[in-house]
Amino acid sequence: MFENQLIQALLTGKPYFGPAMRAMQGPPVRHRYLAALVQALSHSKSQRDIYILEIGSWAGASAITWAKTIQKLGMRGRITCVDPWQPYFDLTIEHESHYEEMTEAAKENKIFNLFLHNIRAANVSDMIDYLIGNARQVLPGLPSEKFDLMYIDGSHTYEDVQSDIRQAKRLIREGGIVCGDDLEFQKHCLDEQEHRTALKTGKDYVSSSSGNYHPGVTEAVAVEFGEVSSWEGVWAVRKRGSKWVKVELKTGKLQIPDHIKSAARALEVTQPEEIELVDATEDFNLVKTKDRFLAVAKKLGPIELFREQLGDRELAPLLFTGKTLEEVRTKSISWETSAAQPVVELLSDTDSYNLLKVGEKFLAVAKSLGPSKILVERLGERELPPVLLKAETFEDIREKALKAEQRTMAVTELVGETQSFNLVKSSRGFLAVAKQLGPTELFVERLGVRELAPLLLIGESLEEVQEKAHASERQTLEPAVELVDEVGSYNVVRAGEHFIAVAKSLGPLNLFRERVGERDLPPLILVATDPSVLRQRIFEINHKGSKNQDLP
Ligand SMILES: C[S@@+](CC[C@H](N)C(=O)[O-])C[C@H]1O[C@@H](n2cnc3c(N)ncnc32)[C@H](O)[C@@H]1O
Repeated sequence: MFENQLIQALLTGKPYFGPAMRAMQGPPVRHRYLAALVQALSHSKSQRDIYILEIGSWAGASAITWAKTIQKLGMRGRITCVDPWQPYFDLTIEHESHYEEMTEAAKENKIFNLFLHNIRAANVSDMIDYLIGNARQVLPGLPSEKFDLMYIDGSHTYEDVQSDIRQAKRLIREGGIVCGDDLEFQKHCLDEQEHRTALKTGKDYVSSSSGNYHPGVTEAVAVEFGEVSSWEGVWAVRKRGSKWVKVELKTGKLQIPDHIKSAARALEVTQPEEIELVDATEDFNLVKTKDRFLAVAKKLGPIELFREQLGDRELAPLLFTGKTLEEVRTKSISWETSAAQPVVELLSDTDSYNLLKVGEKFLAVAKSLGPSKILVERLGERELPPVLLKAETFEDIREKALKAEQRTMAVTELVGETQSFNLVKSSRGFLAVAKQLGPTELFVERLGVRELAPLLLIGESLEEVQEKAHASERQTLEPAVELVDEVGSYNVVRAGEHFIAVAKSLGPLNLFRERVGERDLPPLILVATDPSVLRQRIFEINHKGSKNQDLP
């Protein structure tokens, strides 16, 4: 789902700072402080351009904030971004999934290409220079006292942050600001022993009795500057002669920049609801969410686990909802006192169903759902074919179960495959089952009678489903893009019937693949059916000396 938003942004030329590739780093609110820091700088500057040096740019969110704020303040300036744009976490000590996601995103220049896309899409690429490399290698080569602001948001290890700060002290002009991200706690707010232990783990981010934080950042800032100004993770100091002093910020009027606002909205949709445990009865946790109260059955486990699944509906007897705490408390207690659980009795079974008596009702419960006990809590009022059937008598439920079994197609064997489908023979015909659905065995219980293109195709014969599978594959196939030549600063690719010259500055072809369209977009994309025409056009462009800065 997230990838779709990303692809859409790439195709429509919009900046992307959604959840895919962890493009958005840190809480969006921090960008308000970045904007305010530029403002603090502009007060102390005359007409000169503002020079900003950023260590750690990822997908470009903060770089764009600097550029947009400079523009908004009616000033001019340049931002130099230093980043290797390569995997940098030690996954043997960092186990949370987002480290893996970032490592994956940094491979094969993917995040670098997104950075390039974003700064272009935000129309600020003419203000941004980038130096690809590790700060320890790149910073010593930069001229002293050149920058008005240096933002440190690269590696979080103590040694790296300390090295960045020491370079900053040399690189910043009088009156300039050194700032950074990820200072959740200053050292004096932490338990000393706990902090020392956290540092020794070498981990990027740890939890402590004060809260979660980046120990390397806390330590390096404390050692190099002592106490600094800080606002929700962003920290800063200003150079005054030989001293480093705190920075006063006016955040009142400044808003979160637009490119971050839309990302914040996208994140809101995907963030689980905030919930707070406020009370409990014998069997229920009573919790408060943004706009209501819930009683959540304790048997569902810790409420944190349940967080993402909180829907809008009441789901008695597991989840009661109400406008007030009293309302949900009353509902819980009345359930506890009135409803002893129905007695569940296993009467018999068929090949695929357990036949149960539950209170006064008879149920057939698909064996694929696992032991019927697990299901007891969930036995509701509703029939849920083909996994849960209901009847008034034992005979009726048995008959229903047998009929349902006949309807369900039992897969007998895997008889072939195409590139994207498994071809299987079932008791009622042949099926092409999309491989992306996983092993066909897992899918057996879900095989209905309906065709469900492009995942499930049904036919009378093997040839029929094979043909359907091939047709579906042809339809969904991406255009085959093949690199056939290189001419100067262009890659020449064949895409179906067309030859396309793609400026190398657009990044690796694979990221670009979805965008290889029909349109000519000189000087970045040239399209022709004859490669010699392409060569001629590239020659002309290269000798026109166009002033267009996007010229590769
Ligand atoms: C938290 S991200 C930066 C987020 C970015 N400032 C933003 O606002 O979205 C950290 C970045 O630091 C970069 N990085 C890691 N080690 C680095 C190093 N030694 N020198 C420079 N950059 C580094 C990573 O590649 C990554 O892009």
